[in-house]
Amino acid sequence: MSWRGRAKEAVARRAVDELVRDGMVVGLGSGSTAALAVRRLGERVREEGLDILCVPTSYQIALLATEVGLKLTSLNEHPEPDIAIDGADQVDEELNLIKGGGAALTLEKIVDSAARRLAIIVDESKLASRLGENGLPVPIEVLPAALRVVLKRLEGLGATDVRVREAGKGKVGPVVTDNGNLMVDAYFGPISNPGGLEASIKALPGVIEVGLFVGMTDVLYVGARDGSVRKLSSR
Ligand code: A5P
Repeated sequence: MSWRGRAKEAVARRAVDELVRDGMVVGLGSGSTAALAVRRLGERVREEGLDILCVPTSYQIALLATEVGLKLTSLNEHPEPDIAIDGADQVDEELNLIKGGGAALTLEKIVDSAARRLAIIVDESKLASRLGENGLPVPIEVLPAALRVVLKRLEGLGATDVRVREAGKGKVGPVVTDNGNLMVDAYFGPISNPGGLEASIKALPGVIEVGLFVGMTDVLYVGARDGSVRKLSSR
């Protein structure tokens, strides 16, 4: 296994073991790192008889959670999960995030912001001094009927390139999200004011959600190349 695979396993285990207690409602993020947290939760349910309810953020995670024996609920039944555990594509020094590499950002943002605490789990390759470094785009979920309008307006906001995300293997044409919308990746370069950019993009008619998560992270677990795990708190 690669060092990143080992780092992801280490942060997933550490976050689940430190943060999840019997009786909790737990928000489950999406992506490969969040999936490892779901597997660890399944182990704890089997081994310790932990009684928890989980709010998934995608079909990927809902299917996996059921497979490993977790009980699912929704925000309509439990609007304030005790904790959410999620991955990220990039994390800056203020623990702001770029998310949406797996096209699940809308429900992730809803669940992550509804939870009492948000824990983010990443390997150290995700750390950056500014969001958008290393050529990472900002993922945006867009209503299909508004696609061309939104693409044009994103250029007006300073995006140097905007691309409709292609599905690749397993489906021809664009990525269609779990909500039936399209994904746009907008390239802004290093972002000096993530909160301002988030607000400007979110204000465009036709934008469903933006993959900039600003001021939301409570605790960050970072898995290093040497196998260690660092824990950083925002407050
Ligand atoms: C899903 O849309 C994303 O926000 C993921 O949380 C993010 O892409 C991290 O995924 P990995 O853990 O697979 O890198």
